[in-house]
Amino acid sequence: MGGTNPYLKPIEFELPTRPYRVRFIAGAEEKVVEVDPAKLPYGRDGLPGSLLDVALAHGVSIDHACGGVLACSTCHVKVKKGGESCNEASEPENDRLDEAPGVTPQSRLACHTVPNGSVPELVVEVPAWNRNLVREEHH
Ligand code: FES
Repeated sequence: MGGTNPYLKPIEFELPTRPYRVRFIAGAEEKVVEVDPAKLPYGRDGLPGSLLDVALAHGVSIDHACGGVLACSTCHVKVKKGGESCNEASEPENDRLDEAPGVTPQSRLACHTVPNGSVPELVVEVPAWNRNLVREEHH
């Protein structure tokens, strides 16, 4: 019997082909980082070229309790500008986001948000609860 399990669908995303910047805002602190497509992926956490990958490679601390496999929502960020250059949130990502505090239409999980470089500068807010590593465990 055929059927599709949405949780098994591959996550679709497009890697950038040109450099772009991300302005990470964490409270009063700001850090602008340059993303070089030739160097992606920077690390192993989250999708290659994801906002989590970019942040961690440039010393921007974003909590990522599950290591970037959509098993938590601690990497919750808000893409204030340039969200249109990112892959669409998948169903599993949206399900996880439902569990995150303070969700807005700009909310994404950093480990599964991959900008394609079509917008020269993204603005990404790292929420306070993430910066402080305060989280509630679900039972
Ligand atoms: S790090 Fe767990 S969902 Fe992103």
